[in-house]
Amino acid sequence: MNTSNQTTLRTLKNLKSPKGTILLGHIREFKKKNIHLTLEKWAKELGKLYTLKFGPSRLLVSADDQFNNQILKQRPENFRRLSTINEVFVEMGLHTVFNAEGEFWKKQRKVVNESLNVKRVRSYYPIIKERNQNLIHKISSYAEDNQPVEILNEFVAFTIDVTTEIAFGYKLNTINNQKDRFQDELELLFPKINERMSSAFPVWRYFPSKEDKMLVHSLNKIKEIVNGFIQEAKTTLENDTSLENNPTNFLQAMLIESKKEGSVFDDNVLYGNVVAMLLAGEDTTSNTLAWTLFYLSQEPLFIEKIREEAQNTYSSDVPENYEQVSSLNYAKAAVQEAIRMNPTTPILIFQANKDVTIDNLFIPKNKTIILQNSYTPKTEEYFSEPEKFDPNRWISSSCPYQNHSPKSIKAFGGGARLCPGMHLSVIEMTSVISGICKNFEVKLEGDPKDIKGNFAFTVSPENLKLTFKKNGS
Ligand code: HEM
Repeated sequence: MNTSNQTTLRTLKNLKSPKGTILLGHIREFKKKNIHLTLEKWAKELGKLYTLKFGPSRLLVSADDQFNNQILKQRPENFRRLSTINEVFVEMGLHTVFNAEGEFWKKQRKVVNESLNVKRVRSYYPIIKERNQNLIHKISSYAEDNQPVEILNEFVAFTIDVTTEIAFGYKLNTINNQKDRFQDELELLFPKINERMSSAFPVWRYFPSKEDKMLVHSLNKIKEIVNGFIQEAKTTLENDTSLENNPTNFLQAMLIESKKEGSVFDDNVLYGNVVAMLLAGEDTTSNTLAWTLFYLSQEPLFIEKIREEAQNTYSSDVPENYEQVSSLNYAKAAVQEAIRMNPTTPILIFQANKDVTIDNLFIPKNKTIILQNSYTPKTEEYFSEPEKFDPNRWISSSCPYQNHSPKSIKAFGGGARLCPGMHLSVIEMTSVISGICKNFEVKLEGDPKDIKGNFAFTVSPENLKLTFKKNGS
C-alpha cells in the first residue's frame, strides 16, 4: 500500500467500525475465545483497516500486511508494546526483554540475540534430541494401549523440559510426569500472565482471588529457585574461564554480558529474562506443534513423505544432530503451512509513542493498535487456494501455486523485535514432527470442524485428541 501521493490526511474517524454496544463498544468480544477469528471476519467485511470501541476510547485494527510492516519496522522509536503488558510484568517483578522499551530493551535484546543465534542453537541440539526421544517413548506407550492422546499436554511438557534446560541448565522431567517443585510454581504463572494481559480491568489489584494470592507465593518461590541458579552459574563461570567464550546456557551467556561496561543485567534483569525465556518458548512452540499434527492427521500422504525423508536422513527414532534437522524440508514445510493456516500468535498489540502518519492515516500518540496478522496469509492475493492445507507450497521444487508470499506471515512478529527464538523453535518443531511421522501413523479423533482455536494470548487447539499407531505394526 503506497499512498504517499494522496494529500487528504485520514483520521481514525474515517474508518469503518463494526456494530457494538453503546456503552461498552466491543469490549465483550475480547472476552470470547475466538476473538482472533472475529477480527479476521471484520477485516473481510469492513476492509483491512477499521476501528473498535473500548468503552470511551477508540482503537485501530490493521489486517493490512504492508501497513503492519511499517509499524513493526518503526519500533522502538515510534511504536511500543501496549503499556499494560509492561505493567503486568513489572507488577510480578519481571523485568524482561519482552516488556522493556527504548535503550533498556536494546541492551537486553543484544544479549538475547547472542544466546539464541544459530551457533548456540546448534550447541543446544543435544537437549532437544534427548527430550524428543523421551516424547517418542511416551507416545509409543500410548500407541501400545491404542489410547487417544491429548497431544497438546505432551507438547507442553516437551517444551517446558527443553526451555528450562536451555535457559539455565535445569533438567526437568515433565514429559515423564515427574512432578517438580519448580514446575508446580510455574504452572500458575503462565495462565495468570495470559489472563492479566488480556484483561480490560485490573480486577486482581482491588479484589485479589485465592489464585491471585497463590500467585504471590509462587512468584516468591520461583525467584528463590532462579536466584539459586544465578548464584550457582556465577560460581561455575568463576571456576571455568573457558566458558567465557562458550557459555552452555542462556543464563551463563547473560552473566558474561553482565560483566561488561554499561550492562543492564543486574540480578533482577537476569531473573526476569530467565523467566521470559520460559514464558516465550513454551505455549508458542507447543501450540504450533499441536496445530501441525492436527493438519497432518488429515493428510496421511504428506506424513508418508515426511517419513520417507526421515528414513533417508537418520537411522534412529529422532534426528541425531542439528545438520540433519536443517535438511528436513518436508517436516519443516508442514510446520510452515500450519503456521500460515493457524498462527498461534495471530495478533500483536502496540501503542504509538508519538503522533505518527502511515499511508496517510493519522495515528495519535498513545493510540492502541491491534495488528491482525493472520488475515492476509489466508487471502487468495497472498497465497493461492488459501483455505487448503498444502505443505507442498513450501517446497520450492514442487510448489504448485502461483501466489506465494512468505513475507506476509508475521507469526514471529517483525522488525527489530522479531522473535529471537524463531530459529530455536523451528529446529525444535521440525525435529519433533519428523520423529513422530517417522515412528507413527496419526489419526484424529472426531470431526476436524470441532477442533476450535482458543485465544488466550496464544491460540491453542481445544479438545484435540489423536490416536497413534506404531508405523508398520
Ligand atoms: C512457534 C514458536 C514461537 C512463536 C510463534 C513466537 C512468536 C513471537 C512473537 C509474535 C513475538 C513478538 C514479536 C514482535 O513484537 O515483533 C515474540 C517475541 C519473543 N519471543 Fe517468541 N515465539 C516463539 C518461540 C520462542 C522461543 C522458543 C523463544 C525462546 C526460548 C522465544 C523468545 C521470545 C522473546 C525473548 C521475545 C521478545 C523479543 C523482544 O521483545 O524483543 N520465542 N515471539
